[in-house]
Amino acid sequence: MNVPNHIAIILDGNGRWAKSKGMPRTYGHTMGAKNVETICREAWNMGIHYLTVYAFSTENWSRPSDEVSAIMNLLRNYLKTCQKTAKQNHMCVRVIGDKSALAPDIQQSIADLEEYTKDFDGLHFQIALNYGSRDEITRAVNKILAEKAEGKIPADAPVTEEMISEHLDTAGIPDPDLLIRTSGEVRLSNYLLWQCAYTEFYFTDIHWPAFSVDELKKAVENYSGRSRRFGKTGEQVESEEKNV
Ligand code: FPP
Repeated sequence: MNVPNHIAIILDGNGRWAKSKGMPRTYGHTMGAKNVETICREAWNMGIHYLTVYAFSTENWSRPSDEVSAIMNLLRNYLKTCQKTAKQNHMCVRVIGDKSALAPDIQQSIADLEEYTKDFDGLHFQIALNYGSRDEITRAVNKILAEKAEGKIPADAPVTEEMISEHLDTAGIPDPDLLIRTSGEVRLSNYLLWQCAYTEFYFTDIHWPAFSVDELKKAVENYSGRSRRFGKTGEQVESEEKNV
């Protein structure tokens, strides 16, 4: 089976899943966070090397303040317990997004976790926190401008695609091969717009906390059956596959 090297997931439907069980939305987030751990473990067992999850978007601040506080507390605890899980699974964790707007103790936990796990050679797990793709690209362009002003990049050097990629939060991480969105919405919601230029999409009606290991296998099987052409003709791809 052709297993994707990198899967990106839009975790959607925590609230609806909780509602369907007569529970508060925060219960959905708690169970959603637990499911992230299960899927991380199984992804690595399946041969997936990179997993990137959308935990909190730049737009999510507009939710009711008690829900935002509950999510932040959940993430606070998650980032602390994640050190133990990462050690067990040899997981290398990186947070993408604008960390400067997060509470100082969360920023510190992120720095500690990234430092502690930086040399682990298991799953590369990226958590998108206060993340928005347009914001990430804008920050990347401003970093390039600052480096040009400081002389680190020659003033007359043209801006290239590689230069932009290297200044994104995902620098050094291969682009996702497969993007999964749960819970029935069929849009990207400002997630990894640059990185998903050639990514295959998989949408399912299952809410995130109910997205089981079997559902992950279903998504990977579906991906595995697709032909990725990257601009080539179908005949070219077929003859290349025969020659492998
Ligand atoms: C998605 O469901 C939930 C979020 C985008 C917010 C928080 C995500 C988590 C707590 C998952 C945990 C992640 C990590 C890495 C610990 P929703 O609230 O948008 O659901 P709805 O669309 O049904 O309202």
